[in-house]
Amino acid sequence: MTQDELKHQVALAAIDYIKTLIKPDSIIGVGTGSTANLFIDELAAVKDKFQGAVASSDASAERLKGHGIEVFDLNSVDEIVVYVDGADEANKSLCLIKGGGAALTQEKIVAQVAKQFVCIADESKAVEILGAFPLPVEVIPMARALVGREMVKLGGDPVWREGVVTDNGNQIIDVHGLKITNPEDLEAKINMIPGVVTNGLFAHRAADVLLLSTQEGVKTYS
Ligand code: A5P
Repeated sequence: MTQDELKHQVALAAIDYIKTLIKPDSIIGVGTGSTANLFIDELAAVKDKFQGAVASSDASAERLKGHGIEVFDLNSVDEIVVYVDGADEANKSLCLIKGGGAALTQEKIVAQVAKQFVCIADESKAVEILGAFPLPVEVIPMARALVGREMVKLGGDPVWREGVVTDNGNQIIDVHGLKITNPEDLEAKINMIPGVVTNGLFAHRAADVLLLSTQEGVKTYS
């Protein structure tokens, strides 16, 4: 199977997984990226089984609406039964690096609200130690250089993702060269730097379930 086929395989597995959780009045949290897009496309086939969705980006909201799925503002929603999203890296503890698509802040917000966070990924995303994928950090524009200097002190090599503006009007720094052995600690440290909106480590709110697409089928970790 190609990587795209693996992503499609896990999108279908996620539909099977959430079928056991959703009810006609359920709101589903929906992530961002190529794997999440395939999930959204498959979600269309079961749209009569739930009420609607909260999206983690403008792009996902538009895709959901294109399938006739109602998109809710998070502030108007009491409960999100499940949040389904991809990842750039996942370790054995289900800590993640996310934000390759620049949607990390809204992803983290929706994940925090959700009762269950189901991460969907192909096997190339599974790692022993997080950090080979550059860690995205969303910053208030005027703080970009400050945050970059602080990231150097933490052992990283920051690179401004030039030309990218997040859905929140901010900028992204990708931090290369980190070997993240304590994701919870690093997530908290980076978030303490003034001007950081959030960083792409999902350790305090790690995934509850990882559906990992492999050539031998989809494996479930929790
Ligand atoms: C979006 O900001 C990211 O967190 C994505 O979920 C992540 O980059 C995975 O994307 P793909 O499914 O496209 O690999």
